[in-house]
Amino acid sequence: MTPFTSLSMASKIPIIVSLLLLFFATTIRSYEDPTKKTMEEFSGYPTTETQSCNSDPQSSSLSVDSESLQRQIDELSTFSDTPAPSVTRILYSEKDVLARRFIKNLMGRSGLSVHEDAVGNIFGRWEGSEPELPAVATGSHIDAIPYSGKYDGVVGVLGAIEAINVLRRSGFEPKRSLEVILFTSEEPTRFGISCLGSRLLARSQALSEALKKTVDGQNISFFNAARLAGYAKDQEDLSSVFMKEGHYSAFLELHIEQGPILEEEGISIGIVTAIAAPASIKVDFEGNGGHAGAVLMPYRNDAGLAAAELALAVEKHVLDSGSVDTVGTVGIMELHPGAINSIPSKSHVEIDTRDIDESRRDAVIEKVHLSAIAIAEKRKVELSEFRIVNKDPPALSDKSVIEAMQFASQQLNLSHKFMISRAYHDSCSWPGYSHKPEEYASIEDIANGVKVLAVTMGINS
Ligand SMILES: *[C@@H]1O[C@H](CO)[C@@H](O)[C@H](O)[C@H]1NC(C)=O
Ligand SMILES: *[C@@H]1O[C@H](CO)[C@@H](O)[C@H](O)[C@H]1NC(C)=O
Repeated sequence: MTPFTSLSMASKIPIIVSLLLLFFATTIRSYEDPTKKTMEEFSGYPTTETQSCNSDPQSSSLSVDSESLQRQIDELSTFSDTPAPSVTRILYSEKDVLARRFIKNLMGRSGLSVHEDAVGNIFGRWEGSEPELPAVATGSHIDAIPYSGKYDGVVGVLGAIEAINVLRRSGFEPKRSLEVILFTSEEPTRFGISCLGSRLLARSQALSEALKKTVDGQNISFFNAARLAGYAKDQEDLSSVFMKEGHYSAFLELHIEQGPILEEEGISIGIVTAIAAPASIKVDFEGNGGHAGAVLMPYRNDAGLAAAELALAVEKHVLDSGSVDTVGTVGIMELHPGAINSIPSKSHVEIDTRDIDESRRDAVIEKVHLSAIAIAEKRKVELSEFRIVNKDPPALSDKSVIEAMQFASQQLNLSHKFMISRAYHDSCSWPGYSHKPEEYASIEDIANGVKVLAVTMGINS
């Protein structure tokens, strides 16, 4: 079995990234020749037959230290609240703090200057020869949902640090600064908010406000949890986290594929051209409940059945869109009081729906809403909540970065394929698993991903 890594342009900071990537696009075109030259110097492959490659022997090949990288992946997986092979690493927990320290040490050893912001986004910077230029960033997350695996997110952080090492060993000197970022809380596990750190970097005022009232399942406030982990020391103002405009020219993310496509087709590298836009919805129905024996069927208004019917409606509307790119999932359905002899008086449903086409996704949401209203009316229950919790726009990778990744794959003689990432910012694993202990990527594939990342950063810098 050959599992695969893929390279994805992340949508973590979608708006700013796409704007900045346009800027980047104009830059790179006016420097076509230096780009080629740079490429030749550190990929070791001439881009044209005739041009002589005058690089020194050290820079003629890219070497990934696969052994160290695998060791780091394994070691990081031991910072977990559940036994191996599962990994559980919850935001701001003791294990998360230890894992963060591990990453900061590695960044330091790779010669990066490390700093952290008020929510614990961690930045490792390699200053370029023209540090005033917008930097090129890469990174991912290391928090892990309960009982997940050791590669999700991690490959994009440890792989990024190794990509920096690869570039250093090749003798490469960046013009733009290169930054490795560890994003805080990509997973929603603790506070119900995904991509928390990157949303704040993308200047989400709404999130910054909402966090003041956010608590976890144990009623621990976000700010108390952050302080316990050594962050958010001074106040509850998070505007210092907001990314300065023009700070980055491009953002890249290396990620395992979280589906089976590359695996099945035997392809090394997936180049993500677009990231499907997720939306999540919370729905509550309320009825009168009652005793399962005493209340006869005609007199019931069963909130549980309303929830069940809505779940089927979600599936129908998604399938009716006519596109395989539309998906919808009801992953949470809770009944109250939750007793076998009690008619549910309350039900709670959470719906995740995604598409690469925003208007098609929004049409599904609208139909689901209409269904919820109709079901409530038919079943004489109250639709006490229909709340769209978030509705992110799809992100398109910038053409010039797609071309750079394609070029890098070609230079490295690696098979590649254009793909859409349906796992939000995430892209590859084995055998199509992620968020499970069985998720796996071979070190060979990860190393190939690291090389593509290194070359792509080199082109962009
Ligand atoms: C959560 O904590 C806040 C502040 O400490 C308190 O006012 C509130 O009653 C608590 N809520 C629950 C459900 O314990
Ligand atoms: C590129 O890969 C192909 C298929 O694996 C192989 O036949 C070829 O020799 C490789 N070329 C180079 C330059 O490594």
